[in-house]
Amino acid sequence: MSRKKKKIRIKLREPAKLLRALLVLCLVIALIIGVPKLFSRGRDGKIALSDYPMLKSALETAGVRTSRSVKGGFTAENLSSEKCMLGGCVYVAFEIPSSRGEPLYLSRDVKITDAGGLQTVYPNCLMLTRTGEYDVTVTYLDYSAVMHLTVVPVTPDGLYARTLLINRYSAVGETYVAGTLTVRDDIEYAYGTEDGVSRLEKETAEALHSMLEAALAEGYTLYALSGYRDYYEQKELYYEAGGSSQISVAPPGSSEHQSGLAIDISWGESYYFLSEDMEDSAEYRWLTEHCYEYGFILRYPKGFEKITGYEFEPWHFRYIGPDAASEYRDLGCRTLEEYCAEPRNQ
Ligand code: DAL
Ligand code: ZN
Repeated sequence: MSRKKKKIRIKLREPAKLLRALLVLCLVIALIIGVPKLFSRGRDGKIALSDYPMLKSALETAGVRTSRSVKGGFTAENLSSEKCMLGGCVYVAFEIPSSRGEPLYLSRDVKITDAGGLQTVYPNCLMLTRTGEYDVTVTYLDYSAVMHLTVVPVTPDGLYARTLLINRYSAVGETYVAGTLTVRDDIEYAYGTEDGVSRLEKETAEALHSMLEAALAEGYTLYALSGYRDYYEQKELYYEAGGSSQISVAPPGSSEHQSGLAIDISWGESYYFLSEDMEDSAEYRWLTEHCYEYGFILRYPKGFEKITGYEFEPWHFRYIGPDAASEYRDLGCRTLEEYCAEPRNQ
């Protein structure tokens, strides 16, 4: 009888010890990590910030920040007092001070609750669809802040002509061409060089030639398919494709092809055809890895249709110049809309 009692007592004492040890461990972890870091990871949306005055005051002090890229952290650009470009998109975040010196960008659970007349494409991503002045409300848990944005039109010339954003919201009109158009006989065009679509802006054509040569030297055969298209050709294509009922051909005046800076590329097997199958080819892998070196970017990537406004196009590459392309890659941008959201001097 007494042996049985002893056994029970031991069993009861051990879990109690374990529980105490766990409690001490949790307390130590909470102290080391600190309250702001714990909350920056996001919880279930039911936490009231009034219970955490330190975090609340940090949010109030820092305000809303915007970013043009979210990969590997935020590159904060505070647009709330600056001008930003029509057609761009911005991700929103809160900046809170951190004991490590570098501020912490709180993006998880951050939502745009009132876009003020602009358009949200993801809960934390805003599309700058119209020019003008806008008040945008950004919320984290039960805390809200208002960001004031001034959206300005894009000037289609000047220093940034190469990185000019052309999309549905930021059309270039009837007559725009980025520079001098040229045809290079040393580029293999699937339709031959007599066709009007073999024209490209001069620097773009040079860069394309170098890129296709480099690919060939490594065993990858690529063909140029369509370069320049004027406003009227685009109009014809657009209505043939189904006008506003489709998202594969740009409305006239808003196609990158009209700038002479865009090129559709086909690969070995496909030659005359543009197809999503290109995504599975070794040529496509080579292109997406090396295009930046020659100043090109993949303009309509998979998964970003809501931002670009177009279906995935593994063939459509846009020339922005090697410096901008390398900055684009280093920032982790996936769309020109993200890259161009940054305010610039025109
Ligand atoms: N296919 C692209 C979006 C264009 O028509 O310019
Ligand atoms: Zn294209």
